[in-house]
Amino acid sequence: MAEAAAKLPPIEQLYNPNSQEYMNDPVPQCLALAKRGKLVWYEPWQAWIMTRMPDIMDCWKHEPLSSDFYDWEFAPKRPPEDQWSNFERAMIGHSLLADHGHHRLVRRVTAPAFSRNVVDAIQRKIEPDVKRLFDELGEPESFDYIDMIANHIPFISITRMVGIPEKYWPDIKQVILTFTETWNPTISEEQRESARQDSNRAILIIKEVIAERRNAPQQDDFLSTLLKIEAENEGFEEGDIITLILALIGAGADTTLVAQQWSVYALLKNKDQVATALATPDAFSNAFSEINRWGVSSKMGFARYAPQDMELLGQKLRKGVMVLMMPHLKDYDPEYYDDPKTFDAQRVFNPDVLFGYGPRYCIGAALAKRQLYLTISELFKRFPDVELAEEPERDASDHNAIVFKRLLLKTNVAGASN
Ligand code: HEM
Repeated sequence: MAEAAAKLPPIEQLYNPNSQEYMNDPVPQCLALAKRGKLVWYEPWQAWIMTRMPDIMDCWKHEPLSSDFYDWEFAPKRPPEDQWSNFERAMIGHSLLADHGHHRLVRRVTAPAFSRNVVDAIQRKIEPDVKRLFDELGEPESFDYIDMIANHIPFISITRMVGIPEKYWPDIKQVILTFTETWNPTISEEQRESARQDSNRAILIIKEVIAERRNAPQQDDFLSTLLKIEAENEGFEEGDIITLILALIGAGADTTLVAQQWSVYALLKNKDQVATALATPDAFSNAFSEINRWGVSSKMGFARYAPQDMELLGQKLRKGVMVLMMPHLKDYDPEYYDDPKTFDAQRVFNPDVLFGYGPRYCIGAALAKRQLYLTISELFKRFPDVELAEEPERDASDHNAIVFKRLLLKTNVAGASN
């Protein structure tokens, strides 16, 4: 058995998410990786890859590993406390990045800020912005969906969700673009520092908005709800609110952009499913899981770090080593899904783990699905005969997901302008 394993080619020869082959069709590589074992050492990333769903679910649920990027063995060193800027004050020890105990407290007490009423109120605020985007687009013969629509949605959702007044929008726009660079290990130190400065400016704005909202709370408003929670819960303070907002920016911007692209692409490739997928928000919610399964856009999975030297799934892990959980490896595995090549908007997912599971289940799931439903429904309302104008070229530059360089759509509207 050990002899047979020794004869296998190194996994990096079979699996390389940065390769052209992966970008064009990730499925064979994902299946090959999953076959290799439960926990596979991936030399190029100096990381273990967790491949099997029961182990991933267990890790999500019981959290034997850390989610804090600063626990990674190669993370930039934290400056000493007397040199902290607002960025470190917001990022270290607060909210979602803190130890599991504080994280759970934050998730428990902040749940009302993500309740149905608040999400409904946010949706009402986002809807006119989405309609305005399509009004500005007009009725062209063709257009790039990414440039004209998708690129604007993360900014609209985050600013409307948090309730950032329009006077601050030009300043906050930059941080929404660069925030994830503050912990991106693949870019230069200068670029990371510049992103940190953007975040510092954003924190000042968030503090101003918080001060304004303290003076004038609003009904069913996300920030006003958080301020009420702060007043009622010891251990949850303004720093937690700021970190939470930064986390929403960090976790909500890129994911939304990728989701927009793949939703439109998948539905236009499977036009017979559009009516079913968009029949109701709930129908779309299920269809969105199928869009993601069918598309397999993920390159990395979800990172965790060994909090100490430890043993996991029969392997010895050194302190600080990265473990990547990859639930997307199952997406074309016939053991998980019948007829995996077929797009079925009504496919049953049990369990549905697109938004994670357990204590770190996606905070923005309801908002993400609503905002996608709103935008994609508007697209098909305005252009019922819309189709892909070309097979979009895939873009290798995103380190986390397979995305498109552009998504050129033909509207097929009679009398359309150029
Ligand atoms: C559009 C598609 C989205 C998908 C597929 C998605 C998926 C996920 C997943 C799988 C996790 C768990 C990650 C892990 O275990 O490491 C997660 C966490 C999270 N998501 Fe999302 N997400 C999306 C959009 C959003 C949006 C729009 C927001 C904010 C408005 C958001 C905010 C968050 C936050 C803050 C966390 C961390 C929760 C915690 O650590 O307690 N996500 N998301």
